[in-house]
Amino acid sequence: MQIVEIIQKTFESESNDIALYLAMSRKAEEEGHPEIASYLLEVAMDEAQHAVKFASLLGKVKDTKTNIATMLVREIQAEKEKAKAAKIAQAEGHEDAFQFFNRSMLDERKHKAGLVQVLSRLDEKD
Ligand SMILES: [Fe+2]
Ligand SMILES: [Fe+2]
Repeated sequence: MQIVEIIQKTFESESNDIALYLAMSRKAEEEGHPEIASYLLEVAMDEAQHAVKFASLLGKVKDTKTNIATMLVREIQAEKEKAKAAKIAQAEGHEDAFQFFNRSMLDERKHKAGLVQVLSRLDEKD
């Protein structure tokens, strides 16, 4: 395997670990283990630092305007995919998934609007 492929896989694995550690930290908090929760949160932040470095090594981080434009495309896509997933969840009677796809779809829409604003502010400066 080429090193670039290994870096890509490592980036994905670090990114997954961030979410898992955050979710597990929340669970530990709910179960009344604040110290474990805070340790798991700390590990999540370490994994985030690893992911950040691997993202850079992969050339995923460009100048700010390009970064915002890239993420805008992703947010537009994410909003559409969440809306579609919400419909599927509803059709299959999975209420929790339906609710959460809907809620996160609204977050993606908010991200999209925020990025559009940032881009137009950057354009004004040009
Ligand atoms: Fe890591
Ligand atoms: Fe988003």
